[in-house]
Amino acid sequence: MTIPTISSEALRQLLDRGAAITVLDVRPAADRAEWAIPGSVHADAYEALRRGDPTALADFVPINGGPVVTVCAGGKTSLLAAERLRARGLDAVSLEGGMRAWSLAWNAAEVACPGSAAEIVQVRRTGKGCLSYIVGSHGQAAVIDAALDPAVYRELACRRGWQIRSVLETHVHADHLSRARALARDTGATLYLPATGRVSFEYAPLRDGDALRVGSTTLRVLHTPGHTAESVCYFLDERALFTGDTLFLAAVGRPDLEATIEQSRRRARMLHASLQRLVALPLETVVLPAHTSEPVAFDGRPISATLREVQERIPLLREPEEAFVSHVLARIPPAPPNHHRIVALNEAGTLPDGDPAELEAGANRCAVA
Ligand SMILES: [Fe+2]
Repeated sequence: MTIPTISSEALRQLLDRGAAITVLDVRPAADRAEWAIPGSVHADAYEALRRGDPTALADFVPINGGPVVTVCAGGKTSLLAAERLRARGLDAVSLEGGMRAWSLAWNAAEVACPGSAAEIVQVRRTGKGCLSYIVGSHGQAAVIDAALDPAVYRELACRRGWQIRSVLETHVHADHLSRARALARDTGATLYLPATGRVSFEYAPLRDGDALRVGSTTLRVLHTPGHTAESVCYFLDERALFTGDTLFLAAVGRPDLEATIEQSRRRARMLHASLQRLVALPLETVVLPAHTSEPVAFDGRPISATLREVQERIPLLREPEEAFVSHVLARIPPAPPNHHRIVALNEAGTLPDGDPAELEAGANRCAVA
């Protein structure tokens, strides 16, 4: 019997439409704890399915009347799950390529930014937690931290009548392959990076205090070293702050990637100074980071908070330098998988041959909470 499958793009569209489906995750619980599809349910049936146990999924009941999409890590065990459910008469299909393929799934949300004439679209790579942004004003747009195929940004901008004129990065990323250079090439936009000697391709350098116009609005550059030496934040009309991996909604950036212990300590000191500069901005500033540590729901709700809320959530922001440095260094999480290769590719400005999701698999780990 051939088991029907669904592509991750088709599943993404169904979830985006709010279709009545049940997404059934059959991976071991430890794998699911790392990352999952929003709204999915779990059945701890992995081992039973692998050994052909006829009772596997015998008790499973879909959460609504619609079809079931079975999911595993790579799309093989989920075929066994779908087969088992179909034998019970249920309408079940298997997700092609499993969670690896899902890594590229995304959704979008509009961000309200009172006091700015710009419109902001938050583009969320739900399969990995990367957040990128399109800022639009008067038919022009800038894209910040592009982490998905250029076609996604082109389509979202086109729908709103915006032409992408500028493509910006907050820093050289370590957890995902940057699509900024490809997007700039596809659209003819100018590629802006914080001034750095790290990359081996041409770009327009940005420095502290520089201002970039997008339609009638302005992005001001704040150099905020610490997560990396070149990291910057972009301050839109003094109202919304794109913080990259310097400041998250409940955590701060990690200072240790591609660094020795001594360099990490120095970077943690720089991060402290950078964060002190950010917390002195108006408390109503809308904070828009480059990552979230949770799979992003298909709910159209932006992942953002005011600077006031962020300060309340992160006690580290109130610590003096020495305490901040020792706490940050003591709480460094495991490094993201493949980060040396990802950094090397981002410094070269190239994408790997074949499936980028292969290299990018796994959760992002850019934060210290
Ligand atoms: Fe980063």
